[in-house]
Parts: sequence; structure tokens; C-alpha cells
Amino acid sequence: MTAKIIDGKQIAADMRAKLRTDVADLAKKGIVPGLGVILVGDDPASKSYVTAKQKACEEIGIYSEDNRLSASIPQNQLMAHINRLNKDPKIHGILTQLPLPRHFDELEMLMAIDPAKDVDGFHPVNVGKMVTGQKAFLPCTPHGVVQLLIKSGVKIEGANVVIVGRSNIVGKPLANILIQKSPLGNATVTVCHTRTKNLAEHTKRADIVIAAAGHPNTITAGMIKDGAVVIDVGVNRVEDSTKKAGYRLVGDVDFENVKEKASLITPVPGGVGPMTITMLLYNTVESAKHAAGLLK
Ligand code: GUN
Repeated sequence: MTAKIIDGKQIAADMRAKLRTDVADLAKKGIVPGLGVILVGDDPASKSYVTAKQKACEEIGIYSEDNRLSASIPQNQLMAHINRLNKDPKIHGILTQLPLPRHFDELEMLMAIDPAKDVDGFHPVNVGKMVTGQKAFLPCTPHGVVQLLIKSGVKIEGANVVIVGRSNIVGKPLANILIQKSPLGNATVTVCHTRTKNLAEHTKRADIVIAAAGHPNTITAGMIKDGAVVIDVGVNRVEDSTKKAGYRLVGDVDFENVKEKASLITPVPGGVGPMTITMLLYNTVESAKHAAGLLK
């Protein structure tokens, strides 16, 4: 079997077109959704993610405020920026790109963000709401993965899903969303990680394999069953002297071989990445509607 490629760019473009209409409707009411973006340090990958997020905001009419901070500032200056954005009525969402440089206290920063502006869904209040099935901002990458599955016609209910990776940003929240009694969930979920014994034994049983391990070739063709759906969350830079940048991006999945066995597969780039940004836009628009009293 050769897999159909899930076109994340197209699915994201369709969702963004709908969001653009929502933003235009809000503009008629004098409301402009606003996102406060904080980037600390000059990690090249983080810089490119933040630039892409701000460009996407601009394309659909979301105001974004750019705060690029030196890695050498003390934690209290970072906190002062968060507090200022918490109070700013033009700002409906706050995004601090992670990871922060090592000497910062990430949890203290996340806890300082007003949960009502936590469009990343990383504040423990929102995590707790998500886990207990209450309405909350859902973290963007996991929510994007679930939307990709739904929009590609994949039945999540009752599916055996194996997630490879247990990060706070992807693996853990994704497992929580997929087990909820909700249209996004009702799956049977296994979370594998670096201490899992015999990873292939788990992945071979899966109807849906989601790779979020952060290493190229974590998932090879021999590790999946025929016709499985394979979602690749990985973004890894590998050296490539034929490219102008000196590197190319690959996921966690051995795409060329796995696509011959899967029924559906996401590419890297062009799979999950555009959806992560789209769900950030979605959360920011929802937050602006909520602040204006347009949502319950
Ligand atoms: N770093 C990697 N993914 C994310 C994300 O979704 N949000 C933030 N803030 N940082 C990230």
C-alpha cells in the first residue's frame, strides 16, 4: 500500500480562511484580536517559529506585538513583560516561545500568564481543565494533530493510538485530548517513551501512530502495521550540504519507507507544523471573542 499524503498546508489554509472571516466580523464590532509574543534569546529554530507565527497573524488580521528579549536579562524582567501583557486590553493571547534559555524558570513564567490569555494552553489551570474535560485552551500542536485526523476522515473513536514521546507540549496533552469522552477523543491511547520496552511491539498494534520523540528515524516501516495512519510531529535539522542553509528538516518517521506501508501519512515539512500555527490563531480569536463577551 502507498499512503495518501495528508496535506497539512491545505487543511491549515482552509481553517485560516474561516478564521480570516471571523476576524473580519470582529473588526466590524471594533474588536481586533491581539497576540503578545515573547522570544528570549536567539535560538535559530525558535526565531523561525516565532516569525512564522507572527506572519500568520498578520495574514488573517490578528495584531501581534513583538518582544524579542536578550538571553542575558534576569527572570524578573521577563516576568515584568508577562505582567504588562496580562494587563493590556489589546492583548488576548500571550505566547512565550519555548524552550527558554536554561537559566530561566519556565514554570514560574508559565504560571504568571493570565490563564484567560494562555493561548498555548500550558498554564496548570488550563492543563487541569483539559484533563478533567472542561472547556480550556487546548495546546496548539496536539489540537492541530487531532484536527488533521478529523479533517482527513480518520475515525478516532475506538482507535488504538500509540503516541511516541511524553513531552508536556505534545505527548502528554495529546494523550489527554484523545482519551476524553468527546468528539476529539474516545480513543484507546498508549504513550511510549525512552524507557518503553520493545517500542515496536506497541507501534505494530496501532491504528494510528503519532511520533513526537524528537529524533529522526524513530519510526521505521517494520514498526507499523499495514494501513496504519502515521502522524509525524518531529522537526529535526539534519546536515545537508546540497541545501543553501546547510541543513534540511526531517521528522521522526522514516517517511520514504513508511509511506509504502501506511494508509495516510503526514510529511515534514507541510504536515503538523502549519496546523500548530493555525490552532494558535484559533485560540487567539476565541480569546478575543470571550473577552468581548461573545462566548459563554
Ligand atoms: N515550542 C515548541 N512548540 C511550542 C508551542 O506550541 N508553543 C510555545 N510557546 N513554544 C513552543
